Amino acid sequence: MTMSAEEVSTEAVASPGTGFTPGSADPEIQAAYNRKAIDHAAALNAWRAEVLRERGPRPTTLRPLEKLLPAFDRTALGVAREYDQMGQRPVSEELEARAASAGVTLKHLGLTIGTIIGGVDLRQTDPELLALIRSVLLERKVVFFRDQHLDEDQHVAFARGFGELDAFPFGKPGDNPFILEIHHDETNPGSENGWHTDVTWMERPSLGSIAQMVVCPPVGGDTLFADSHAAYLGLPDGLAERIEHLDGINDYRVFLAGYGRRPIPDDLAEAIKTDIPFGVAHPLVRSHPETGKRALYLHGGFLRHESLFDRRTGETLDPEEARKLVAELLAQHPRPEYHCRFRWEAGSIAFWDNRAVQHYATSDYFPHQRVLRRVTVAGDRPVYAPQ
Ligand code: SIN
Repeated sequence: MTMSAEEVSTEAVASPGTGFTPGSADPEIQAAYNRKAIDHAAALNAWRAEVLRERGPRPTTLRPLEKLLPAFDRTALGVAREYDQMGQRPVSEELEARAASAGVTLKHLGLTIGTIIGGVDLRQTDPELLALIRSVLLERKVVFFRDQHLDEDQHVAFARGFGELDAFPFGKPGDNPFILEIHHDETNPGSENGWHTDVTWMERPSLGSIAQMVVCPPVGGDTLFADSHAAYLGLPDGLAERIEHLDGINDYRVFLAGYGRRPIPDDLAEAIKTDIPFGVAHPLVRSHPETGKRALYLHGGFLRHESLFDRRTGETLDPEEARKLVAELLAQHPRPEYHCRFRWEAGSIAFWDNRAVQHYATSDYFPHQRVLRRVTVAGDRPVYAPQ
C-alpha cells in the first residue's frame, strides 16, 4: 500500500532505524547496510518480474504520450511531442538520403535540435549544397560546421546564399559592414548569457544568424540552443490557449542606454529613433513560415513585460498579470531537456534559425578573450496562424 507524504514523514520520524545507517563512517555498519540494500533490491526486482509475468506480453500499441509522461513533467512531454511532430526521426528519410548522396555527414547533438554537418567547405556556395544546408536547418533548427575559417567576405557570401542580410545598427561592425563583431576580454566580460532569439525589436526579425568563432577561449564560452517548438508543446496545461492570441511590444531602446557608463549622445540616439521604428508588436506564439510549426517566441530583454494585449480585440492585460505571464513564459526555454550545447573551436560556425530556437552564450571564460563574427539573414514579420 502506498503512503501519503504526511504518513511517510511521520514514519521517518517515528522509526528508530535498525542501525544500518547508510553512509556510516564505521565500515562494518556500512557493509551491513550494503548487504541489506542488495537483499532488498533483489527482493523488489523479483517482485517486479512477477508483476510483469502476471501482466503478460507487452501491448503492441503504445499508450499516448500524455499517459506515459506525467502531467508534472511537461518538459519531457514537450520534447516527445516535438519528436513525434518530426516523425520520430532526427531527420526525415529523404533528407538523410540526400545528405548521404552528397557525401555530407550529419551528427546530431540532441533528439530534436542541433546537428554538426561534416564534409562541406562553406567557401563553395554551390546552390545544391546551400539547399541541403537549408533543409537540415529547417529540420534540426541549428546546424554547426567545423574548421571553416571564412574571412569576412566569404562569411557574408555564404550568408547571402540564404537571403537578404540585415546590417546591425548597435554593435561593432567588421571591415565588411554586414559583420557584427562580438568581442569579449578582460575589460569586457561576456554578456550574451540570457536566453533570447535575435533582434525581436525589428518589424521583420531575422530568419537566422550565422556566427563564426574567431578567437576561442581555452575553456568555456559554449553556446546553448533551446528548441522553441518543444518549449511551446511542453507548456503547462492551459497556457498555450491563454497566450494564443496575445501580442507584446518589443523595443530596442534598451540599447540606447549606451556603452559602459556612457549614454549614447542625444543627436545619435534621436537619429536612430527617427530611422528605426521602436515599439513593434509580435505574437508570443509564432508559426514558422516554412515548416508551419508553432514556436514560443519572445525576447525578455526587448519585450515590454507589461505590454501584452489581445490582437483580435486590442484589449490589454492587467500589467501585473502580464508580467506574471511573461515570467512564466521566460522560465520555459532554460529547461535543459530542450537544449543542445555547442563547444566552439576557432573556425567553427553555427547557423541558427531564430524562428525555431533561442540561444544563450555562456559567460564563463573571463578574463580570456572570445571573438565571434555574426551575420544575420533577413526574415519576415512573425505571425500566428491558427491550425
Ligand atoms: C549571440 O547572442 O548572438 C551571440 C552568440 C554567441 O556569442 O555565442
